Formats: sequence, C-alpha cells, structure tokens
Amino acid sequence: MSVAPASPLPGLVPCALQQRVTVVAQERLARDTFRLRLHSPELATRMVPGQFVMIRPSRSTDPLLGRPFALYQVYSDPHGHPGGIDVVYLVVGKMTSLMSTWQPGDEVEVWGPLGNGFPVADCDRLLLVAGGIGNTPFPAVAREALGVTTYGVRAEPPRGRAASLAPSHITFCYGARSAEYLAGLDEWASLGVSVQVATDDGSAGERGFVTQPVARWLAQHAPLDGASAAPSSPPRERLRIYCCGPERMMQAVARLAEQHGVACWVSLETPMACGIGACFSCVAPVKTPDGDWDYRRTCVEGPIFPAQELVWEPGH
Ligand SMILES: Cc1cc2nc3c(=O)[nH]c(=O)nc-3n(C[C@H](O)[C@H](O)[C@H](O)COP(=O)(O)OP(=O)(O)OC[C@H]3O[C@@H](n4cnc5c(N)ncnc54)[C@H](O)[C@@H]3O)c2cc1C
Ligand code: FES
Repeated sequence: MSVAPASPLPGLVPCALQQRVTVVAQERLARDTFRLRLHSPELATRMVPGQFVMIRPSRSTDPLLGRPFALYQVYSDPHGHPGGIDVVYLVVGKMTSLMSTWQPGDEVEVWGPLGNGFPVADCDRLLLVAGGIGNTPFPAVAREALGVTTYGVRAEPPRGRAASLAPSHITFCYGARSAEYLAGLDEWASLGVSVQVATDDGSAGERGFVTQPVARWLAQHAPLDGASAAPSSPPRERLRIYCCGPERMMQAVARLAEQHGVACWVSLETPMACGIGACFSCVAPVKTPDGDWDYRRTCVEGPIFPAQELVWEPGH
C-alpha cells in the first residue's frame, strides 16, 4: 500500500491521503446495492460520520475521475486494531458497475478523508432522514451518537469532545423506491433505533414520500400553532434533523424543519471531479452573512450544510 498526500496544491485538503488499498470484502445488501470493505487503518482512525472518500481503479484510467462515497462504517481487524472502512454504493453508471466486479485482494485507489462531516449530535432527539442510497452516512452518525463507536481519533482537525448531551432517542426515516432497495435494516434493529420506512410502491412501510413520517415526527415533537408537544419531547432547540438523499426530498425536509423551527443539516450529493477543492465542479449556492449568496465547494466546505444556509434551486 502506498500513502501520499492527495493534494499537490497547498491549502486544499492537506490532511487527505491518497492510497492504494486492498479490497477486503464485497457483499450484496439489496438490489444493485453493495457494501465494499477496504483495508485502510489510516482512514479508519481519521474519518468521521458524513465525510467521504474518492475511489477509482488503480490500474486503469477508465474511468479517469474518482467518484465520491460516504463513510458507511469503520471496522477493526481480528486483533481489535483499526482495519479500514466500508462504503455502500448503488450501481448507477460506469464506475459503480466496475466496483461491483471488484474481488477481495484487488487493489483500488482511494483518497480521503474528504469534506466536513456532520456535527457531533449534541441534542436530545435526533431525526435521520434518508432517500434511497442517501442512507449511507447514517449508520456511522447513529453509532457515534449512541456511543457505540468512536470516530476520528486521529482526525484533523480533531473531532472534538463527545456530545455534552447525547440523544436519548434516534429515529431513522428511510424512503426508497421499493422494498428490494432497502439496505442495512438489520443494523438499525441491532442499534435499537426506531425506523420508519416509506416506499414509492408501498411494498414496505407506508406508501408515499419519506416526508410523511418526517412531518409526523415534527408534529409530535415541535407542533405548530401553539399545540402541545408530546410529554416526552424536549424543547425544540434540543431537536435536530440530519438529511441525505435526492435534492428535491432534502429541500422538502428543510422546508418542514424551518416551518417547525427545528435545526436541520443536509448532505449534498453534488457530482464531483477532484474532491479536493481544485476544480470547482461541485459548487453549490450558499447564503452569505451580508444577505447575498456565493458559491461554496461541496467537497471542501461541505458536503454537509445547515439547510437554511442553502439557496435551493427554484422550482424544486
Ligand atoms: C459527498 C458524496 C457522497 C456520496 N456517497 C455515496 C454513497 O455512499 N453511495 C453511493 O452509491 N453513492 C454516493 N454518492 C453518489 C456517487 O458518487 C455517484 O452515484 C457516483 O459518482 C456514480 O458514478 P458512476 O460512474 O457509477 O455513474 P456515472 O456514469 O458517472 O453516472 C450515472 C448516472 O448517475 C448520475 N449521477 C452521477 N453522480 C450523481 C450524483 N452525485 N447525483 C445525482 N446523479 C448522479 C449521472 O448524471 C448519470 O445519469 C455520493 C456523492 C457525493 C457527492
Ligand atoms: S470536486 Fe473539485 S472542487 Fe470540489
């Protein structure tokens, strides 16, 4: 395995590593959905929930550009030492089709950790909202919030202290096309997280959009028009929503959160070319403190943004 700084340009992502790593395992989780385990003790100790890596083949230039994938999980080797990371991906095109052919022992090129990650979940109740393959950052978020796994022991900058008030309840709202695309439900059950599923065709959970259970959660814990919240609900400033998925869904969740006065962060899945801040292919419009807006690079200043800071595309 070779390890080198990913960025040849100063000031971009100086702590990111570029590595040739070995595929440890590949497992099918759902329709067109796979978990890829990569050996990298360095990434296992540096990555935090919501960060991502760029992946590309190591012995070919087709595809030439890497593709971004969120940290799904870190794993330990049989001796309890940091082993590497898992990513979970949906096969949609050239790179992900190639990835699905990789076998244990194959070498691939990876660079990371990239992006900012979700803030430590310093709240009483945490709502995680995923659309489709947007579920991938959330097992790590939940594991950190529940104190099951510590992330980023060698992160730069340091991850910070554990949340002063970790969430007593986590709810995961998971929207998918149909039951066959739902991935990783067993893990959620083992974490004891309450899961609410919505599918387009009603083949699992309720039929319809994932915003339906989100709206119910908000009505229960942060009701509008002076209605009383559920007796167990904390003040709404102790509620928090993290969201990842199609932009239209994230915009709808962000709007609901704003209406109910609940803080919401979203993880953008903007297509990326370099992942290290050099090409500006990944920019998103973000509000600036002077009331205007400017572009921010999703790969460096994101992919996680406070939802109210984003300028959502009109018509979505
Ligand atoms: C920060 C970040 C984290 C991500 N994490 C994951 C993850 O954990 N698991 C996962 O499966 N995917 C994730 N993605 C999306 C993933 O990077 C794309 O699916 C991947 O680049 C597709 O590569 P491909 O060569 O297979 O498809 P391509 O051949 O490049 O494209 C196939 C089709 O998908 C469309 N497409 C490609 N990328 C995107 C995108 N980002 N958003 C919408 N449409 C797109 C193209 O326009 C095209 O129609 C993430 C993206 C970002 C930015
Ligand atoms: S992907 Fe190149 S600047 Fe973000």
